[in-house]
Amino acid sequence: MTRTLITNGMIVSATGRASGDVLIDGETIAAILAPGQAAGLGISADRTIDATGKYVVPGGIDVHTHMELPFGGTEASDTFETGTVAAAWGGVTTIVDFAVQNTNTSVHERLAEWHEKAAGNCAIDYGFHQIIGGVDEESLKAMTYLVDNEGITSFKLFMAYPGVLYSDDGQILRAMQNASESGAMIMMHAENGIAIDVLVAQSIARGDTDPRFHSLTRPAEMEGEATHRAIQLAKVAGNVPLYIVHMSASEALEEVAAAQHAGLNVFGETCPQYLYLSLEDHLAQPGFEGAKWVCSTPLRTKHQHHQNDLWKGLRMNELAIVSTDHCPFCFKDQKELGLGDFSKIPNGIGGVEHRMELLYQGVVTGEISLERWVETCATTPARMFGLDRKGEIAPGFDADVLIWDPNNRTKIGINDKHHMNMDHSAYEGFEIDGKVDTVISRGTVVVENDTFVGKVGHGKYVKRGLSRYLH
Ligand code: URP
Ligand code: ZN
Ligand code: ZN
Repeated sequence: MTRTLITNGMIVSATGRASGDVLIDGETIAAILAPGQAAGLGISADRTIDATGKYVVPGGIDVHTHMELPFGGTEASDTFETGTVAAAWGGVTTIVDFAVQNTNTSVHERLAEWHEKAAGNCAIDYGFHQIIGGVDEESLKAMTYLVDNEGITSFKLFMAYPGVLYSDDGQILRAMQNASESGAMIMMHAENGIAIDVLVAQSIARGDTDPRFHSLTRPAEMEGEATHRAIQLAKVAGNVPLYIVHMSASEALEEVAAAQHAGLNVFGETCPQYLYLSLEDHLAQPGFEGAKWVCSTPLRTKHQHHQNDLWKGLRMNELAIVSTDHCPFCFKDQKELGLGDFSKIPNGIGGVEHRMELLYQGVVTGEISLERWVETCATTPARMFGLDRKGEIAPGFDADVLIWDPNNRTKIGINDKHHMNMDHSAYEGFEIDGKVDTVISRGTVVVENDTFVGKVGHGKYVKRGLSRYLH
């Protein structure tokens, strides 16, 4: 077994930081040692990585990605191969993607399809959540089976996208009751899709067809209302753990915070796009350009306090996790499907490569601490979603490590740092005061010296346990 020693770095965890050396034996972290202690103990390594002046943190865990997702008449442009290589470039060592079941399709068959897409094609480890787009007797039974046998312990439901993935309140309640029994987590896309579809139809009929109307027809109140409803349903269903995905609106955050203060098992997730991008500066760019930033929930106006509230929510742990909701589409031929009708623009932004970078910039600007960066991007995602060997640098954990250089810089852009399979970057021109230096996935170096040195197929499927966040 190969032994690797990372020396002289600043090891940062969710709770603190200390200088030290990390000893990796094979795929596992074997020991944390005082700087230089290894030599005194007669410990030798096959490889030594000098991390002087750098942070040594757990590899990023992105629990919300959509590789190869069929959506909006097309398919997300990153395959499991291109998407996981890009993730590695961004310091991410595990993703949790979504297998999709729709009305009248079998959960088991659809999950098998997703396994087929991913198996042997990933550069880093991966797990699956299961989307239940058709709640019925069969899918409810399958949910329990997946928890007990397949390492899938979280299920995403949609209050949005009527006719596609939408569940009504009765279906949601039934799925929640089922999850409550098995101990699983419900992930909710909380937007009032029925009301939104009325606003969308009215907007198109008026001739308001530009991309910016995507946000104007999905008002923050519709996110707040659905979040409130989801929380009430979860309470009735036995206080089932409820995780509200991709939150963008202050109104929704208020609902999550109130539920938490009332002692409910409710958790929030946001994404870099909601912390940094806005209706005015991005979605409302002239002509059809704004299509690049069509995603749901939508980018919000910068003239209200959504972004400030989201950063505050991250500091207060009202938002526990930052994921990307990586759902990339090229501008050409994909986003262009919605030319003349914003409702036909496939929803999604690609960002799996840039979450660690963008959130680190929040450390630089003083929005969050270094420890909170680690906590929201690695440690809590692992605990929340039952990735029992990941998210910490500690003996016995998988040797998934990001060495981060705070004295270097990253320029994001299609001709700068960009490895996702997209013809544009949602973060074009962003500059970060820090840089991914070295990435290690289960003991194997996958990125170093500005080069991807990993192997497609190295990434393994990870069966997940129940959420450790509650226990
Ligand atoms: O715009 C988004 N979020 N696309 C991906 C599907 C989803 O709702 O997460
Ligand atoms: Zn969603
Ligand atoms: Zn998503």
